[in-house]
Amino acid sequence: MKSILKQLVCCGFAAITVPAFAQTPVPIPPTLSGNTIDLTVQHGTTEIYPGFATNTVGYNGSFLGPTILLDAGQQVTLNVHNQLGDTTTVHWHGLNVSPANDGSPHVMIMADETWSPSFPVLDKAATYWYHPHLHGKTMDQVLLGAAGFIFVRDAEEAALDLPRTYGTDDVPLVFQFKTFDADKQIMMEDEMDNAVLVNGVVDGVLNSPAQVVRYRLLNGSSHRFFNFGFSNNKQFKQIASDAGLLDAPVALTRLILAPGERAEILVDLGNEQGNTLTLKSFGTELPQGFPGGTMMMGGMEGPLDDTDFSVLTIHVGAPTNDPVTTVPTALTTNEVLSQTGAATRSIGFSAQPMMSMTNFFINNKKFDMEEVEFTTEQDKVEVWNITNQTMMAHPFHIHGNHFYVLQVNGATPPPNMRGRKDVVVVPPMNGSVKLVTRYENYGDPMLPYMFHCHILSHEDGGMMGQFIVNPTASATTDLEQQGSLTISPNPGKGNFVIEADLPQAGDATLTLHSSDGRLLETRKLEGLNTGIQQIPANFTGLAAGWYWLTLQRGERVFSGKVVVE
Ligand code: C2O
Ligand code: CU
Ligand code: CU
Repeated sequence: MKSILKQLVCCGFAAITVPAFAQTPVPIPPTLSGNTIDLTVQHGTTEIYPGFATNTVGYNGSFLGPTILLDAGQQVTLNVHNQLGDTTTVHWHGLNVSPANDGSPHVMIMADETWSPSFPVLDKAATYWYHPHLHGKTMDQVLLGAAGFIFVRDAEEAALDLPRTYGTDDVPLVFQFKTFDADKQIMMEDEMDNAVLVNGVVDGVLNSPAQVVRYRLLNGSSHRFFNFGFSNNKQFKQIASDAGLLDAPVALTRLILAPGERAEILVDLGNEQGNTLTLKSFGTELPQGFPGGTMMMGGMEGPLDDTDFSVLTIHVGAPTNDPVTTVPTALTTNEVLSQTGAATRSIGFSAQPMMSMTNFFINNKKFDMEEVEFTTEQDKVEVWNITNQTMMAHPFHIHGNHFYVLQVNGATPPPNMRGRKDVVVVPPMNGSVKLVTRYENYGDPMLPYMFHCHILSHEDGGMMGQFIVNPTASATTDLEQQGSLTISPNPGKGNFVIEADLPQAGDATLTLHSSDGRLLETRKLEGLNTGIQQIPANFTGLAAGWYWLTLQRGERVFSGKVVVE
């Protein structure tokens, strides 16, 4: 068995005496709550290995970020200050927000700028997270440390007798594979990961009280899956999946978590005072083709693949004053959406060439910021069939919403996959997943939502697509009533001419939105004629970048993208 420790020692820093079992207390991220939350994303250095200053990125600190605590129903404004010296975005992974607030690759925050999305919290109590999503740079920024937790709390969860003392019996734990070079710098790649961090430390040790303890597990890695379990095979109970409570706790001794996935587990430490538990990842037991296990056809393996290793040591101390001592038997009632009247979509993963382990496609295409896969309507039920023709498992994720998994490889999923989720593993070699979702609360005729593989190197490499949800407010605007605008010169300096084929004469409205969906200007155009019209649209003082121009005449909406040089 290869151990992490051996990996650390083999990398040639013999001059430094690392005690054989040096362990670092697992830091608990600070919390932020309230209606206004400020996040500054910035560079820093962090001493992850003794004596080494590792270059890292963090929110409000040098590495990782604070936990954002939100109450269902509250309004929140997040001011994200970008001090990275580079463009970034911040995506609220799992939260039900509009495309303009979601922090997708379209919603860029330029260096030294502040982005301030504001929205009501429409989610159920669960563990969410935030991370950058700049197309092509998501992996780099996340690997360097840009990631944090979001806890949503609600009345239903608050009524249950569950541990919820933050950092004591309710503990956020982000697990991340990374690759360190000989100088202990984080490498911008994820093929040969050689270390595992928990809350930013290697060989982490945590003190937990002798009672029922809740651990909120997040796989914040770029690539590899964890197969969590205790070294003594102690049973634990999963109570929540990505986006909500399960109907009832599910007893497990192993739990696979793919990149992007979360799980809340309860571990009964009531009889364990004075004991030390070891949480491990059992890579040798991962199904074939799951990154971290063995690859199909003897594909390339990293030093931590197909091996079992410790990810966290837990020392059990005295119980707290008011401990939770039992696990509730029932939690919630998940109501899976009815498929009646649903639109169905097929989404296929493929590799080129077929055996490739790095070059992946969705519906035979690479992601293109300008290309939308399909358009649906707000409130319409969507049933997606996702198939995987590649040799490896891919975690599929959708933005701005959760879904229910109906089938995995044609069969009903296990009980811990029957709750609200936003990441689902699509098994390799003709594997399939069927899910149902509905974009109930938001639509945007111009800004798309993303779906993608949450292996960040795959996502950055184009294993991503996007779709438009038309808001119900303009439900009369079906596809035939939409048209595209011809805009020239495009790119231009701001003096554009729009050509549109107007169905009737009269007044029209011209709007200009920023690339992140903010309405910048509305103009009334009076007395337009019918037929093909050339309409001048002159804007001054626009910063370089791209914008959406929309012309609305009666029921008819035309929109197009303009680039300002
Ligand atoms: Cu957590 Cu689109 O990602
Ligand atoms: Cu997401
Ligand atoms: Cu993938």
